[in-house]
Amino acid sequence: MRAAVLTISTSVARGTREDRSGDALARLAGEAGAEVTVRDVVADDAPAIEAALRRQVADAVDLVFTTGGTGLTPDDVTPEATRAVIERDAPGFAEAMRAESIRRTPMGILSRGVAGIARRTLIVNFPGNPKAIEETFPVLAPTLAHVVETLGGRSVHRP
Ligand code: MTE
Repeated sequence: MRAAVLTISTSVARGTREDRSGDALARLAGEAGAEVTVRDVVADDAPAIEAALRRQVADAVDLVFTTGGTGLTPDDVTPEATRAVIERDAPGFAEAMRAESIRRTPMGILSRGVAGIARRTLIVNFPGNPKAIEETFPVLAPTLAHVVETLGGRSVHRP
């Protein structure tokens, strides 16, 4: 399964902040069995985020993980850009991640991240800090192989 990791951050895009969240997300995706074929950094700009997501969907990447831009500031537009691209919601991912986040910190409620499917690609928004990624990725990890099998249109039969 192929994964793209997109860091959504104007300060990382400008080179004034390290991409520690993208690094954590790429490492965890690799540990979960994904081949991270794309790493990209995009400023907090809805059309730019949307274009970056559409490129990955057009390339038929199985999984797109974004980090950042999910909070409440006016600059946080990742969920809106993601909603513009997805064709079908997959709310369980965001619900489960938020539930786990709220267990860890009351601030977990602040992430507006969404998840959904465009063509055969699952897109999931993660918050923009490495601690949040360490806390939430394990919620998804056990599902990814099954997700990719089913997105590819193959039925999965297990005893
Ligand atoms: N989720 C977890 N698991 N751990 C965290 O520390 N931080 C929260 C929230 N979700 C946090 C978390 C905070 S403080 C914010 S502002 C939101 O994620 C949104 O972050 P973002 O705008 O960087 O995407």
